[in-house]
Amino acid sequence: MDAFVIEGAAPLTGSIKANGSKNAALPLMAAALLMDEPLVLSDVPDLADTRNMLHLLAELGCDVPQRPSCDEPTTIHAADASPCTARYDIVRTMRGSICTLGPLLARRGHARIAMPGGCAIGDRPVDLHLRGLQALGAEIELDSGDIVATAPTGGLRGASIFLGGAFGPTVLGTANVMSAATLAQGETIIESAACEPEITDLAKLLNAMGAQISGAGSPRITIRGVRELSGTSHRIIPDRIEAGTFLMLGALDGADITVENCPIDALMAVCDRLERIGIDIALTPDSPTDLMRATVTVSRRDSLQATRLTTQPHPGFPTDLQAQAMALLCTVRGHSIITERIFPERFLHVPELSRMGAQIFRQGPTAVVSGVDHLVGAPVMASDLRASASLVLAGLAAQGQTIIRRVYHLDRGYASLEDRLVPLGAQIQRVDEKDLAPIGVC
Ligand code: EPU
Repeated sequence: MDAFVIEGAAPLTGSIKANGSKNAALPLMAAALLMDEPLVLSDVPDLADTRNMLHLLAELGCDVPQRPSCDEPTTIHAADASPCTARYDIVRTMRGSICTLGPLLARRGHARIAMPGGCAIGDRPVDLHLRGLQALGAEIELDSGDIVATAPTGGLRGASIFLGGAFGPTVLGTANVMSAATLAQGETIIESAACEPEITDLAKLLNAMGAQISGAGSPRITIRGVRELSGTSHRIIPDRIEAGTFLMLGALDGADITVENCPIDALMAVCDRLERIGIDIALTPDSPTDLMRATVTVSRRDSLQATRLTTQPHPGFPTDLQAQAMALLCTVRGHSIITERIFPERFLHVPELSRMGAQIFRQGPTAVVSGVDHLVGAPVMASDLRASASLVLAGLAAQGQTIIRRVYHLDRGYASLEDRLVPLGAQIQRVDEKDLAPIGVC
């Protein structure tokens, strides 16, 4: 297993570019299962999760490349429409596998997908996905830990579906039901749909394939079913979470960062909080006018202020940036209050940040962060993708050396992050955990 060794407090400056969005890519790749013509996607990030998705799609009868490439489009062709099973071995490494359920059911009439288990950030049920597909007429049962879904004779039927849950709408649930409804007979209305930009991007792709979807990006999506879909090409939106992580990086003490390919239009709540703290975010004079692919600079005013922050479904502050924001607030004077409303248990980074000298008091879904003058490097353990990113930010800001173990969590969402940070002046090195002791850093 790999680890990062970071020598903190080095001044950072320069440009860093956000890649294509991981969370948009996964359901878009699964959409290839809805047709028998090729789907050509560009800007698919080369990550553990997208490679796993290609692997799964290959098992599901698709011709796929070995791995995605930033330079070449990724072509996925569902050449053999007979396989319908997503094995537990794959699903347990990547919960996003669940977004093959809707497309398989709609196109092949049957799907057997291992039920995803819990993960480090919480329980992560899929009841809303199943309820939505049942409303379209699917029969669903659980067999030996697998979800077994079968479409009625004659195929799925349009329906009106309320998809809200106790924690708000579901992103991948909306993706599953919307994708399945494209081939259902008649009209489907999804009420309390997720409004995330990844859903809008999926609807854009599906419409380019011949679907008739309106309202994506709002809480009510209407889908008029069509008989078949056809091949197309599509460029995936930039990753708002990766870009948001880079904005936080620019907000760290001493950093002077420009973020390229930044979907600033999808980061309004994040910019609002950062500006409230005392961070200025501005478009560069040569920025593309497309605010989903902007170039922005991040600069820090002299004194920063503590703030309150609550995670919410889009367009609210994203849960996927909560841990990174916490790392930033650790050194902002005063008491900041962070409330996690999407995954109330998503705080595994708290004890690790505390090892670095952070003062955090957590009770239930709320954490009070009392700013300290500086963090101190320490050996820490990555527990999940975004917690890992927060530890990288904390390690870069801290005085002294930080060792982050289990960075495979980070690799699921940030492609070769260390290679992109080094040109900014970051002193960060990837090592094999086995080599830590011999180089005297254990
Ligand atoms: N929920 C239910 N029932 C369901 C589905 C969800 O109760 O059937 C609950 C969840 O437990 C959670 C809330 O609804 O409390 C929202 O979960 P959602 O379904 O929206 O999450 P997801 O679609 O499984 C995606 C992203 C996550 C991101 C969430 C929320 C992908 C592959 N994953 O997950 O990304 O945190 O939306 O925005 O798109 C990450 O990238 O680090 C990550 C975890």
